Amino acid sequence: MSTVAPLNLGIAGLGRLGKRHALNFAQKVPGATLVAACSPVADELAWARRELGVSALYADYAHLLAHPGLDAVVLVTPTTLHAAQITDALNAGKHVFCEKPLSLDVEDCLRVEETQARHPNVKVLIGFVRRFDASYQDAYARVTRGDIGRPFYVRSQSADKNDPSGFFVRFAPTSGGIFLDMNVHDIDCARWFLGGPKIARAFAAGTIAVHQGLKECGDVDNGLAICEFEDGSLAHFYATRTLAHGHESLTEIVGTAGRLTVGQNPRLDRVDIADAYGVRNECTPTFWERFEDAFLREAQAFVDMVRENRPPPVTLADATEATRIGRMLTQSFRAHAVVEADERSG
Ligand code: NAI
Repeated sequence: MSTVAPLNLGIAGLGRLGKRHALNFAQKVPGATLVAACSPVADELAWARRELGVSALYADYAHLLAHPGLDAVVLVTPTTLHAAQITDALNAGKHVFCEKPLSLDVEDCLRVEETQARHPNVKVLIGFVRRFDASYQDAYARVTRGDIGRPFYVRSQSADKNDPSGFFVRFAPTSGGIFLDMNVHDIDCARWFLGGPKIARAFAAGTIAVHQGLKECGDVDNGLAICEFEDGSLAHFYATRTLAHGHESLTEIVGTAGRLTVGQNPRLDRVDIADAYGVRNECTPTFWERFEDAFLREAQAFVDMVRENRPPPVTLADATEATRIGRMLTQSFRAHAVVEADERSG
């Protein structure tokens, strides 16, 4: 039993993912007490009162930060708000868990890093959820043990089942586009498995296979990218929002003495169905069924990291690099040209 007091948390953002995080922190994470919630949407606050039993409800983020006794905030807000909300939390002395990506802008990421450096005792964790998934962690342990020799190439994809409602068309103006919203997971994974290399150059291409509404904000529903890193290692990414069969996160790490693949078969469970249609499995329908356990492990890791005063398992510098590469891919896709790394580019 820890003698450290439970962490008093406030959550901002109770949308698609925020509700899930809120339920985890309120009900399933030892050492955490969800004491307050914030959203500009009255229905979401009513949900928090009803489903979470939280009575301190705020429409305004500044009021959440001023909640008496608050230790930390969980930010599951639109990506365009992350950098400013993290900065305000740091200046108020509150630890932060924030969903990915850190920001859509590299300069904003660097400013968050500078602010954090002025508050070295206040911790920030950015939610690159795959780093907390048991299978990804097993693959990482094998890579660091040298089981596949020297890793030099990562092929990774983020692939969602087509949602005919096209919610992400409405989401597109604040998501940063497919490379920053989806491939940012693959970018972070690639750098993690390859030992944190710096990007040298990148090329990306994309197409709209289904959702023509994305054209208005310069986004696509399918994207491909190739990255070369300064140390000669390589990465290849795919993102799609239009799969017919379900959600399929897949990462392959190729080394000089072997290859590891995480998620080769996106099976929902261990049932094999043999019938008139062949032999098959049900597929994970969405990212939630695939990563539900990883989101809980991530939440626990944040709470433990703060209470036990441990360094974050994903650094702000890692999150900045993921945004830098996502930006380069977006630029490349728009310019139809290779983009060279430029320290000044934002
Ligand atoms: P959403 O649009 O469903 O929810 C956003 C929430 O933020 C809503 O509750 C909205 O009322 C609230 N909000 C808006 N302005 C606010 C403000 N000023 N203060 C407090 N709350 C405010 O979006 P969704 O899908 O839940 O995404 C949120 C974040 O989570 C995004 O950054 C996204 O990239 C990330 N995300 C990460 C995933 C992962 O796999 N790790 C999966 C899905 C989303």
